Amino acid sequence: MQIVRTIAELRAARRALGELAFVPTMGNLHAGHVSLVRLARSHAKHVAASIFVNRLQFAPSEDFDSYPRTFEADCAKLRAEGVELLFAPDERVLYPQPQAYIVEPPPIASELEGAFRPRFFHGVATVVLKLFNCVQPEFAVFGKKDYQQLMIVRNMVAQLDLPLAVVPGDTVREADGLAMSSRNTYLSAAERAEAPRLHAELRAISDAVRGGRADYEALGEQALGRLREAGWKPDYVSVRRRADLAAAGAGDAELVVLAAAKIGATRLIDNLEIAPPA
Ligand code: PAJ
Repeated sequence: MQIVRTIAELRAARRALGELAFVPTMGNLHAGHVSLVRLARSHAKHVAASIFVNRLQFAPSEDFDSYPRTFEADCAKLRAEGVELLFAPDERVLYPQPQAYIVEPPPIASELEGAFRPRFFHGVATVVLKLFNCVQPEFAVFGKKDYQQLMIVRNMVAQLDLPLAVVPGDTVREADGLAMSSRNTYLSAAERAEAPRLHAELRAISDAVRGGRADYEALGEQALGRLREAGWKPDYVSVRRRADLAAAGAGDAELVVLAAAKIGATRLIDNLEIAPPA
C-alpha cells in the first residue's frame, strides 16, 4: 500500500491506477470501515482510502482534539484488505489557508444531525468534494450508518455532476446490535452495556410501523421518553422518507427511522431502514 501525504504525490499515484473505488474515513478503523473497503473492491479493480480528521466538520465544543487517532493500526487493516493507495494528508495540505469556499448544502442539512450540529454538513460536503477532486475515483463508498451524510453526498454528486457513482454500504453492528463507531471507544463499561438500547428502540419503531402504525411523531416521542427514562439524553428519534429524509406522511412506503442520543458524554447515532409490511 502506497501512503501519500501531498496532493501532488496522490495525483501521480492515482494516474498509475485504472478504475478506482474510494473509501473516505477519519481513521480509527473498525469492521464497519473494513466492510466498505470490501464493497469498494467489488466495484473496481483498485481501491483507495483516505484518513483525515476534518476540523471543518467539528464544532469548537466537539471532540476534534480527542478523536481517536490510530494511524499504524489503521494502515495494517487497510493493507490486509489489499488497499493500494492511502491518502493521509496533514491539515496544512487540505487547508493551506482557511477554507473560504464552502459547499452550501440544501435545507435538509439543517435538520436531524444538522439541527444539533450546525454547519456539520457544510464541513462534510466541503471536505468530501475536495477529496473527490484530489482522488478522482470512479466510485465512492459511504456507510448507511451515517444515513443523512450518505444522502447529502449523493445529492451533491448528482447536482454538481461529479463524474463518480456513490455506493452505499450496510451498517455493521456488534453482536448486541450496537452500530460500530469510532466513538464507541469513549463508552465506559456500564455505558457500553446500555448502548444497544438505541438500536433496540429503532427496531421497536420499525416493528410497530410494519405492524401497521403510521403515527410516526407519536412513535418518535414515545421512544424519546423511554430513552430519557433509561438515563439517555436523546436529540431526536424520527421516521423519515428514505429518498429525501423529509418527514414521513401517510402513503409514504420507503421509510427509515433515524436517532441520535447521548449516553453520558458520548453521542451515538443510528438508523434503521423500515422494511415494508410483509
Ligand atoms: P468516519 O466516521 O470515519 O466514517 C467513514 C465511513 O465509514 C462513512 O461512510 C461511515 O458511514 C462509514 N461507517 C462508519 N461506521 C460504520 C458501520 N458501523 N458500518 C458501516 N459503515 C460505517 O464519515 C466520516 O468518517 C466523515 O464524515 C468523512 C465522510 C470521512 C468526511 O470527513
